[in-house]
Amino acid sequence: MTQQSPDIERLGALYEEATDQIQKDYFNFLRFKSISSEVEYKSEVLDCAKWLKNYLEEAQFKVEFWEGNGHPVVFGENLDAGPDKPTILFYGHYDVQPVDPLNLWESPPFEPVLKDGNVYARGAQDNKGQAMYVISALKTLIQNNGKLPVNVKLCIEGEEECGSFLLQEKLKLKKAELKADYLAVVDLFVASEDHPTIPLGFRGITTMTMEITGSNTDLHSGSHGGIVYNPNHALVEILAKLRGDSGKITVPGFYEDVTKVDEAIRSKMPDDTNPENYEQIFGAKPIGGEKAYNMLESASMRPTLEINGLAGGYAGDGFKTVIPAKALAKISCRLVPDQDPDKIWKQVTDYIKKIAPEGLSIDFPGHPEGGKPFRSDHNSFIVKSLARVYQEIAGVEPGYFLEGGSIPVISNLVEAVGGETVLMGWGMIDDNMHAPNELFGMRRFKKGFLSIARLLEVIGQD
Ligand code: BES
Ligand code: MN
Repeated sequence: MTQQSPDIERLGALYEEATDQIQKDYFNFLRFKSISSEVEYKSEVLDCAKWLKNYLEEAQFKVEFWEGNGHPVVFGENLDAGPDKPTILFYGHYDVQPVDPLNLWESPPFEPVLKDGNVYARGAQDNKGQAMYVISALKTLIQNNGKLPVNVKLCIEGEEECGSFLLQEKLKLKKAELKADYLAVVDLFVASEDHPTIPLGFRGITTMTMEITGSNTDLHSGSHGGIVYNPNHALVEILAKLRGDSGKITVPGFYEDVTKVDEAIRSKMPDDTNPENYEQIFGAKPIGGEKAYNMLESASMRPTLEINGLAGGYAGDGFKTVIPAKALAKISCRLVPDQDPDKIWKQVTDYIKKIAPEGLSIDFPGHPEGGKPFRSDHNSFIVKSLARVYQEIAGVEPGYFLEGGSIPVISNLVEAVGGETVLMGWGMIDDNMHAPNELFGMRRFKKGFLSIARLLEVIGQD
């Protein structure tokens, strides 16, 4: 057992008192099929947003929907602490990823179950579980003290998993509402539950769809084989050239804007990555990165280019002897400072066009807005306050961490809010995020609750 501070014990008692109700509410939140990327779930996403709005109103928040083309942003505020106290805005999302492959779930994704201290459901962690401990901490503090120690705003969007279109649009129109002294983005990880880490950044992202067209219809591979250039062949030839022997991406200029990680941060990153452990959990050897970098570096400090999906021709049962008219690849790049998503998009697509065989047409339909890599300031008051809170919870000084994933809207949100930013969250790498059997541990849920409640107290102290 770690030694927790008296303040944490006091807040822990509040949590224990409310825990049955909190868990019921959390499970109700998880039951909504709020899959933002699939049109057929549009009304379920809206029902989830309405439930959230109502829940926050009952918890003494003034709540608005920011509506438009897409799923609404739920924006709430409770400014009862008064103008002498600072304001903090919490960011999270109520939308979730699709559930396929459904047959690999051990219990239905939208019927949450508690098993061995873990809650299993789509969104259990990402991000309903994390949003829920934030909200229940706020609600519990208000119930106990009549008001919060600081002013609180909440921005919980419904499109994080599919591009944050509506929120991106609202950022320009809602400057006054979004303004705050601090922004807490609660959608991230700790490296370990007992030795929490504070993320000081995450990677950016740019995505592209490569479409190769060879003919105006699928062709019989007997009549046409050996005459035409099969788009599937062109596809694999191109893709094979994007990565060199040492795992380096071969796109010219790809690494030119990569900066070195600050030594002050690097020295506080616990390197407890363990290849055997990784293989045991995921059934994969960690051998895919650049040879010159270790696991920790590859997972957060280096950019990547990954092929996320391929399509072309027939791959079903039996055989279809066809030369497809089209072949397609979905590619994404994770980016680190100071790489720019649009510049990388152009470098990759230009290079592909250059190396593509002549006579086929290569298109990159759409150009989705990417997200910039982000770094927070480890010397800011808000990051230091969270470090103090984690020390109180875990009894050890927290480490730092850089996250490999992306939250594309954040760099623009940071600008709109205008205050200091802290990244946080109690997710972990083996929560099966975006995969079957997503889970979140209730012990971490409680620590999340404690960290939010105590953080508000710490930043509200005179
Ligand atoms: N919560 C994740 C971001 C994240 C990933 C945090 C890994 C910590 C570790 C977020 O919901 C997410 O999955 N983002 C997507 C963005 C994409 C859909 C543009 C991602 O990183 O793939
Ligand atoms: Mn998320």
